[in-house]
Amino acid sequence: LSRFVGLITAAGSGVRLGRGEPKAAARLSGRPLLAWTLDAFASLELDRIVVTAPPDRVAEFAGLVEGRASVVPGGETRSASVRLGVEALGPAADDVVAVHDAARPFVHEEEIRAVLRAAEKSGAAIAAIPVADTIKEAAGGRIVRTLDRSRLWAAATPQAFRGEILARALASGRDATDEASLCEDLGIPVEVVPVSRLGFKITTPEDFEIAEAIVQARHRSRRG
Ligand code: CTP
Ligand code: MG
Repeated sequence: LSRFVGLITAAGSGVRLGRGEPKAAARLSGRPLLAWTLDAFASLELDRIVVTAPPDRVAEFAGLVEGRASVVPGGETRSASVRLGVEALGPAADDVVAVHDAARPFVHEEEIRAVLRAAEKSGAAIAAIPVADTIKEAAGGRIVRTLDRSRLWAAATPQAFRGEILARALASGRDATDEASLCEDLGIPVEVVPVSRLGFKITTPEDFEIAEAIVQARHRSRRG
């Protein structure tokens, strides 16, 4: 019988956000970003969730998760954090592991569910946002070519894998920006699950402003 487990990567320092504190602890409408992201997983009732925290903030993050996850120290890079988190989870070969960035609080519960189901069936699946802009490749400030937008996706999270596949993918030790890339290295097929643009990653101060606006708008519409 397979279980569903989650790994939320929250050990980054948030240099590009520039707040002088880890991004996952930054307050979005008064609550830590990590708390919003855990909300997205709340009704899925995963068997277990592990959160990677900056190594010097494990106790603080253990407070932030309010009993909804266990907190372990992350590593120097996102990849290192994922390896440490998976070690702590210790998934069985047929467990489905969803790896998700704390910096993506607005992914919809139904979208997470769709990624988990796809990975349960096929072994590996990621949330991805269809590219809306026309994408140019440029060099030296000049356009080289226009890519075929209909084939392009912005890789997002969750990225979900059968435990056995994730273990194989992580074994190379390569420092990739996502786990799907590691599967691609090995020729392991990865399914793409379309998600809305609300799956965006909060990276810069502008992203944070957009996130605040989203939370405020939802708050207003709740009060009617
Ligand atoms: N992450 C992590 N461990 C790291 C680096 C990143 O767990 N050593 C996590 C971040 O907390 C974030 C996700 O991976 O939820 C995506 O990373 P990113 O958006 O790059 O966040 P930061 O690394 O914190 O930001 P920056 O690169 O601007 O410093
Ligand atoms: Mg980073």
